Amino acid sequence: MKPRPVLLYDKRDGGVAWITLNRPDALNAVNLAMRDALWEALLAFHDDPDLNVAVIRGAGDRAFSAGADITEFGTAPSYVEARRARHDRDVWGLMLSITKPLIAAVHGYAYGLGCEMALCCDIRIASDDARFALPEVNLGYIPSAGGTQTLPRTVPPGIAREMILSGAPIDALRALEIGLITRVVARARLYDEAAAVASQLATGSQVALRATKEAMIRGADLPLAEALRLEAMIAERVLHGGGA
Ligand code: COA
Repeated sequence: MKPRPVLLYDKRDGGVAWITLNRPDALNAVNLAMRDALWEALLAFHDDPDLNVAVIRGAGDRAFSAGADITEFGTAPSYVEARRARHDRDVWGLMLSITKPLIAAVHGYAYGLGCEMALCCDIRIASDDARFALPEVNLGYIPSAGGTQTLPRTVPPGIAREMILSGAPIDALRALEIGLITRVVARARLYDEAAAVASQLATGSQVALRATKEAMIRGADLPLAEALRLEAMIAERVLHGGGA
């Protein structure tokens, strides 16, 4: 029997790609095969002129993703090789740098890397059964898909510190309250909601959208005066038809 693909990539009409984490029996835990498949899918999305927005979701009833596959911990042939693989294929850096919008449609568990992948997206929509946590410290590990940096840049830093240091989960309503997600819907409506948001983004001016995202990404860590100069430069480029 053919093995089930660990990731589904579905290019739909209207310029939207649906990327589905597809290991529902393991709560969509991200193993090396899924990480590699995600890398390829993100590059395909980035390079495809017909695609404007991607929605990322988890297969099955129970989870967006319960994080990195803990059965693979410590199985890399050597630290050097593990580091080289991370450097050559920096999946989370790629997610954070793509100027086309990414939407996370989250249900069930979004733990560890599951939560961090959602944090690498621009818009996070969740169903009312969603649970978010960064439990790595309780496993003697640290979040390493950007969580120590992206969470404090997304929610109030004091709340981020408590979540990261305690590893304790929060539910969808709390996630909405702190700004980790921007919408909560009933489970049955999650993908319709994500599709509606995606479609709205995919039909606007893509030059403007990508330039705006570029300004936000490149300006995020600059001093304000420099960031404003960057914004002016990008605005000028868009006005004069330079594109993103
Ligand atoms: N890596 C690998 N497999 C995982 C996994 C992970 N991160 N999370 C869940 N699974 C697997 C379980 O091993 C189990 O497989 P099995 O049916 O072959 O035994 C299956 O997914 C279902 O998980 P289970 O633990 O039985 O479900 P549960 O409802 O009792 O608990 C969680 C759900 C999410 C609370 C629990 O699975 C969990 O704590 N997972 C680890 C989360 C984590 O620490 N993530 C961060 C890693 S850095």
